[in-house]
Amino acid sequence: MVAAKILKELAKEHGTPLFVVDHSELRKNLMQFNKYLPRVQPYYAVKSNPDPEIIRTLFNAGAAFDVASIREFKEVYSNLKGKSNKEKSDYVWNKIIYAHPIKSEETLRELNKYEPLVTYDNSEEVKKIKKFAPDAGLVLRVKVPNTGSVVELSSKFGADSGEAVELIKQSFDAGMKVEGLSFHVGSQCTNFENYVQALNLCAGIFEEAELAGYELTLLDIGGGFPAPYNEDVEPFKLLARKLNAELKRLFPKKVEIIAEPGRFMVATSGTIVSKIIGKAERDGKKCYYINDGVYHTYNGIIYDHCTYPVKSFKKGEKEVCAVFGQTCDALDTIGLSEFLPDLNINDFVYSENIGAYSAAASTWFNGFPPAKIVHINQK
Ligand SMILES: Cc1ncc(COP(=O)(O)O)c(C=O)c1O
Repeated sequence: MVAAKILKELAKEHGTPLFVVDHSELRKNLMQFNKYLPRVQPYYAVKSNPDPEIIRTLFNAGAAFDVASIREFKEVYSNLKGKSNKEKSDYVWNKIIYAHPIKSEETLRELNKYEPLVTYDNSEEVKKIKKFAPDAGLVLRVKVPNTGSVVELSSKFGADSGEAVELIKQSFDAGMKVEGLSFHVGSQCTNFENYVQALNLCAGIFEEAELAGYELTLLDIGGGFPAPYNEDVEPFKLLARKLNAELKRLFPKKVEIIAEPGRFMVATSGTIVSKIIGKAERDGKKCYYINDGVYHTYNGIIYDHCTYPVKSFKKGEKEVCAVFGQTCDALDTIGLSEFLPDLNINDFVYSENIGAYSAAASTWFNGFPPAKIVHINQK
């Protein structure tokens, strides 16, 4: 967490709304991941926050990357400037996965020259990949339980386990190679049993594929690793312990294990500082209006089913109040039961743990620009 004093100084220097990214948190989260899951290579899910500076820090710290659009791919690839062609292609193969099961023909055509690993989950996609990106490596995404995860993903993507081997066969028959399987247990997955079930399901498919003559050597356990938004989220260490035990039991050492953590890497690195621009009393409750909102940094309230408690720098007796965003839309509500002391126009407020799925989807709605971004502790 960035100290309140520093946040305030930065807000005075740069103005508000100000999105502060603490790069020491990024390095710490990556180190934690590597420490507790030593067998799993983390591929940072760029979609959770595609800021080039964040990508650079994680690149320099040795992370690999999950990308899901050409733009994300190129942003990561730009870090390879100055490397030889061989180094570039080795990096793409070993450290980038294009983890979107549905890709347009144009995307595939452009991707093909880089020969990356790509995910797929259906038969039409196999035909498309064969036609437009035959040099890509394949990873079959399977559908796994997302029970209790805050953001459900299994209704949109993932092959049923019953059709997995057929889809693997179809790819080999078409002359392409399937390296392994991937899944996603849903984002902010606090029900660790989802991972356990997913690993068991994949181990079954590995066995079935082997019986059919196809050896799979890669398992991508996706994202979902929860950020510590509140005390109810069990420590990462506990999830890691479960994962390590199941991976050891179910998958021989020769199977390479990778993951696609987004939120876990970046959520705690971001803090938004904004300013009170209006104050009113409505139905006996204090209402504050700040110069950010759900169309801007706080969009995770809508898209990510997340809450970001608003905190003040000022001390004093707290009371329940409402905090609204700056636009004309009533949907632009940050919280109807925030807990703040009596504040005045121009006072700063802030929300922590807002680094994931926030700045990434900020808009210009109502003519208000996205928050300015400052990076600290970049080293
Ligand atoms: C394919 C894929 N991988 C990884 C992620 C990152 O997930 P998380 O932020 O929960 O780690 C997502 C999120 O939507 C995703 O769709």
